[in-house]
Amino acid sequence: MLDKLFFRKKSQEHKIDLDDNIPSHVAIIMDGNGRWAKKRALPRIAGHHEGMKTVRKIVKESNFIGIKVLTLYAFSTENWKRPREEVDFLMKLPGEFLSTFLPDLIKENVQVRIMGKKELLPLHTIKAVDQAIEQTKNNSGMILNFALNYGSRDEMTSAVKSIAAEIKNGTLDPSQIKESTIEEHLMTHGLKDPDLLIRTSGEVRLSNFMLWQLAYSEFWFTDVYWPDFSENHLREAVSQFAQRGRRYGGV
Ligand code: IPE
Ligand code: IPE
Ligand code: MG
Repeated sequence: MLDKLFFRKKSQEHKIDLDDNIPSHVAIIMDGNGRWAKKRALPRIAGHHEGMKTVRKIVKESNFIGIKVLTLYAFSTENWKRPREEVDFLMKLPGEFLSTFLPDLIKENVQVRIMGKKELLPLHTIKAVDQAIEQTKNNSGMILNFALNYGSRDEMTSAVKSIAAEIKNGTLDPSQIKESTIEEHLMTHGLKDPDLLIRTSGEVRLSNFMLWQLAYSEFWFTDVYWPDFSENHLREAVSQFAQRGRRYGGV
């Protein structure tokens, strides 16, 4: 019986027991593409392009391990501050990623979703992601949730606005507001909170990512730049997660 999954390279093996506590929802802040490129005297966009290949690898591995939801921070509401050429390149990546890998994702039963202010994305980006969402909407396997033009404060601001509108039109009474009311108005509604947050590149901050949803998540940081992040790193994070004791304020 296959009771252990082994990483391919024996020298740096991280084994995961199938009955281990596999995190159901993993969220990743994919950081360090620019520094990866700089280290090699390449333009930043070369790092983003390489990072796209890591996305493919990690999606496949996550699905294999049995992760149910993988949320990937691809572009923040703050990333518009970057040079025009870099933003343009980043906006082309979802299209390139999906035109290359959508058939594989369909085969692997992956369901693609997006969270973020979609309407502010360029039309070609919206078209690419809409096509992927449509073609994978009936897939019942892992949910691949791209945070694209996502910011947690923007998400909460929108939630407050729509809750306020419901109060104004009389469909909601302020006394009825519960934590679940807020959750229902977030872009993650219907998804459980991430169990594990991974951030690459050595930065130890959230950068406006899922502030509400990460309240009780386990965090795992690595100095590795995203383009160098491997299946084995994911396994390392997942196996360390399995050993942690989550108490949620209890004893
Ligand atoms: C992460 O890599 C990708 C995005 C934020 C889009 P960065 O581009 O932030 O890489 P560094 O942090 O500059 O190395
Ligand atoms: C966070 O990375 C956003 C994404 C990975 C998409 P940043 O590189 O933008 O974060 P800061 O600027 O270092 O906080
Ligand atoms: Mg960065």
